[in-house]
Amino acid sequence: MARILLENVTKIFDGEVTAVRDFNLEVPDGEFMVIVGPSGCGKTTTLRMIAGLEETTSGNIYIGDSLVNNVSPKDRDVAMVFQNYALYPHMNAYHNMAFALKMRNVPRAEVKKRIKETAKLLGIEHLLHRKPGALSGGQRQRVALGRAIVRRPRAFLFDEPLSNLDAAMRLTTRAELKNLHHRLKITTIYVTHDQAEAMCLGDRICVVREGEIQQTADPMEVYERPANKFVAGFLGTPPMNFLTGSIKLKNDTAYFKIGNDAIILSQRFKNVLRDYYDKQLILGVRPENISPQQFSGQSDNAISAMVNVIKPIGIRTDVYLTHHTEQKLIIGIEPHARFEVNDKVKLYLDLEKIHIFEPTETGRNVTLSDQPG
Ligand SMILES: Nc1ncnc2c1ncn2[C@@H]1O[C@H](COP(=O)(O)OP(=O)(O)OP(=O)(O)O)[C@@H](O)[C@H]1O
Ligand SMILES: [Mg+2]
Repeated sequence: MARILLENVTKIFDGEVTAVRDFNLEVPDGEFMVIVGPSGCGKTTTLRMIAGLEETTSGNIYIGDSLVNNVSPKDRDVAMVFQNYALYPHMNAYHNMAFALKMRNVPRAEVKKRIKETAKLLGIEHLLHRKPGALSGGQRQRVALGRAIVRRPRAFLFDEPLSNLDAAMRLTTRAELKNLHHRLKITTIYVTHDQAEAMCLGDRICVVREGEIQQTADPMEVYERPANKFVAGFLGTPPMNFLTGSIKLKNDTAYFKIGNDAIILSQRFKNVLRDYYDKQLILGVRPENISPQQFSGQSDNAISAMVNVIKPIGIRTDVYLTHHTEQKLIIGIEPHARFEVNDKVKLYLDLEKIHIFEPTETGRNVTLSDQPG
C-alpha cells in the first residue's frame, strides 16, 4: 500500500492541448480519493500519468516514497480498471483473473488461493468457469475488479468503472466498492463525471474543471463550503440556484438586492462582504435551503417568483420557477404540496446557508471568510 503524490503535474498534448494544469494532489495511504469533473476535464489523462501510460509534460509523481516519473507501468505496481473492462474474451473468469499473476510467475497454488479468496469477496465464485460473453455487465465488472484485486497492488486506479452498468446495478456496485475498500484499505483513485457517485464513494473528492483542480476536501465540506461557483453548481441535484444581484448598505444594514427584492444579510455576511458593496455578485442557494409559500401581499425578506413547471419525481417534487428579473430557479417541495403552474410564490432563503460568489464561471465564494487568498 502506498500514498500517491502529484506535484505540479502538467500534461500538454502535441504542444497545444493542456489537458492537466499544475495538479497538486496528495492521496494518503489507504484513502479513497475521487477525481470528479465534466467530460474532457483531464481525469483519464491524470490516471494514465499515474499508471505510467502517459508521460507528464512537467511535474513529479510519487508512489510510496519513490519518484516514479521514469518508472515503467509494470514496475509502478498499481492496478487500473477501465470503463470497458477489457477482459480477454477467450478466457474464462478464472483465467482472466489468473493471467497477470502467471505473467509475474506467482506459484500456481498461490494463484488459486488468491482467486478463491477474491471471488468469495466479490460473490463470483460460481461464475469462475464462464467466459465474459456469458456474463452480465455487472458480473464482468466484478471479474475486472477481481483481476485488479488478486494482483494485490499498492494502489487502485479506477476510470469510470461503473458507467456501463444500468442505474440499479450502479447503485449496488457502488455500495460494494465502498465496502470492499473498507475491508482492503488499498489506496484508491477513482475517476467519474457523476457528482452523486463522487459524493457517495470518496473519503475526499477533488473537483476538476478544464484541467485545473478547483477544490479538494471531504464530500460534505465541498457541498457545504464550495470554494467557487463552479464547484457549487457542479455538486447537488437539483443544482444550486444562482441569482445575480448586488449588495447594498442602507441604515447600517446590508442587503442583497435582486431586482425589486432585497434580502437582509446577517452580521457575519455584512462584515465579510464589506469590499463588495454596490458590486454585481451572484447569490447561490441550494434547493433544500429555500422554503416556498403562497404569495400574499408584500415580500418580507423573501424573493417572489412564478411557478413554470411542476415535476413530481416520487420522493419529492421539483418546481421550476422564474424570478421577476427573468432568472430561473429550481426548488424541491413535498410531493403533496399544493402549487400550481402560474402561481406566484414567496421564497424564503435560509440565510445562514446562502453563498455569494464573484460574478464569473469560477467566481470565488466570498462568503467563506476563512478561505485563503
Ligand atoms: N492523446 C491525446 N492527444 C491529444 N489530446 C488529448 C489526448 N488525450 C486526451 N486529450 C485531450 O485532453 C483533454 C482531457 O482528456 P481526458 O480524456 O483526460 O478527459 P476526461 O476528463 O477523462 O473526459 P471524459 O469524462 O470524457 O472521459 C481533452 O481535451 C482531450 O481531448
Ligand atoms: Mg475519461
